[in-house]
Amino acid sequence: MSELNRYAIELLSSPLAVRVDFHEELGSTQERGRKLAHAGAPHGTLVVSRIQTGGRGRLGRGWVSPSGGLWMSLILRPGILASLAPRVTQVAAVGVAKTLWGLGIEARIKWPNDLLVLKPGEAEGRKICGILAESSVDNVPVAAKGPGDSDAGDHRLNFVILGIGLNANLDPEDLNVFDREVATLRSELGHDVDLVQLLSSLLSNLNDELEKIKDFGVVLDDWRALNCTLGKSVRVRKFGEVLEGRAVDLTPEGALLLEASGDTIELFEGEVDHLGQGEA
Ligand code: BTN
Repeated sequence: MSELNRYAIELLSSPLAVRVDFHEELGSTQERGRKLAHAGAPHGTLVVSRIQTGGRGRLGRGWVSPSGGLWMSLILRPGILASLAPRVTQVAAVGVAKTLWGLGIEARIKWPNDLLVLKPGEAEGRKICGILAESSVDNVPVAAKGPGDSDAGDHRLNFVILGIGLNANLDPEDLNVFDREVATLRSELGHDVDLVQLLSSLLSNLNDELEKIKDFGVVLDDWRALNCTLGKSVRVRKFGEVLEGRAVDLTPEGALLLEASGDTIELFEGEVDHLGQGEA
């Protein structure tokens, strides 16, 4: 097994590791990435830490990050408008899913951005990877190039910090998650993986998907093929509101279409629970 360190990552020569910021221990790679991005770090700056002492998940949750996991944040400057920023989440989920399939793990994407391992017939599944995409938007609106310019008034996306937490060479118990089941590469494969090779494959898949961000329909087709949410009865929590219904499809911009009480609702964020048969 190769050791995960700055030198080994630089040797990958990935366009998503043009600058490598490696730490033995850090509060959160996400915070570090944001700081570097504000200081002007380029697209493809990669922050990795062996341990995070203050890892952050979505919706203000913590993310337990002991040694053995792959904890990283990427600074991306994808050159798209701010209104298209949610695409980064789906692009990343497809890239991570393809990486896991490459290892022989048939992971599924739970909308918007969890990677789950499910046994046949299982509704909820066990989370193996979490994704956190946080954007920074330019203050100045895009000026109209001419009459009817649909980009006018939108803002440019300054950067996205794409955080990925992949439970790799760990036992599920190491993660101290008590309210749901979690999975790790070790629990699924029965052995540890080479973290440098894992990172290499992940960066390569992420880069391939990012190149399709302007041709997003192709990414969404892969997302649909890899997801486990569409077609299911779900409960969605969004800013204190709870909605129940059937997840029918994604919009062309990746929002979830929920059929509930005869209406179709478009959701750009929320926390989804898959319900068992007959629960909704
Ligand atoms: C979630 O599913 O809630 C998202 C989890 C994201 C965790 C990763 S670990 C690397 C990066 N640094 C953080 O503090 N969070 C993200």
